[in-house]
Amino acid sequence: MAIDRTAPIGVFDSGVGGLTVVRALMERLPLERIIYFGDTARVPYGIKSVPTIEHFTAQITDHLLGEGVKMLIVACNTMAAVASHVVKERAGDIPVLDVIEAGAQAAVAQTRSGAIGVIGTPTTINSNAYARRMHELNDSLRVFSQACPLFVPLVEEGWLDHPVTRLTAEEYLKPVLAEDVDSLVLGCTHYPLLKALLQSVAGPQVRLVDSAVTTAQAAAQWLAREGMANPARSLPDYRFRVTDIPLRFQTIGERFLGRSLGQIDKVDW
Ligand code: DGL
Repeated sequence: MAIDRTAPIGVFDSGVGGLTVVRALMERLPLERIIYFGDTARVPYGIKSVPTIEHFTAQITDHLLGEGVKMLIVACNTMAAVASHVVKERAGDIPVLDVIEAGAQAAVAQTRSGAIGVIGTPTTINSNAYARRMHELNDSLRVFSQACPLFVPLVEEGWLDHPVTRLTAEEYLKPVLAEDVDSLVLGCTHYPLLKALLQSVAGPQVRLVDSAVTTAQAAAQWLAREGMANPARSLPDYRFRVTDIPLRFQTIGERFLGRSLGQIDKVDW
């Protein structure tokens, strides 16, 4: 069956963090419709086991496929790290993009020294998915990974430029920076909000790779190449689905999105 060019792009995440990817998509592709799914009832995924994440990922994928999306974007690094095969198996002809593929390609293209740092949740880092993909692209690279479990709660608390966050970042980045990396991949949905702080801790010689931005670029390239961009010239609709509407969801969501969220629907399943 032919894919409908006017259909929305389905973007999903374990919670609110994937809105950093939606924000980048809105900026890069202002005419595309988007349906976002955040599993706010079961977040965080980054400390859960692989079988659990695979199971949740399958449920979300089926939900978005049922909405008739024209493309799926795995905005959650943790899901992309351990369950992207689940999405691809179910998606059939619908293209699947994910933050790890886009982030790994961008880091490999930009490094000059061949030493790259990666930070992410414990599940993402333990999976070694970023390092594996980067080594497939260039086996002479040196990749240094560091789990940063405290960053997600600090960002959700809004402590984007707080002394506690700065101290935490200095501690986490110490071993990675000691390896003289020239690039640092922000391998978690929440980390783009810490860009300014991380850049000042890492120093000007380190270039940050924002997977949200690189994923939006990859989506734009794919749509242009395949002639699948939305031909409509009117402002697109954005829909937000969550599995729970926790207190403060609106505030946190708007911080991630950089604009007002509009209507949020709770999914019952
Ligand atoms: N979305 C997750 C990620 O990018 C962070 C939040 C979580 O642990 O679920 O890895």
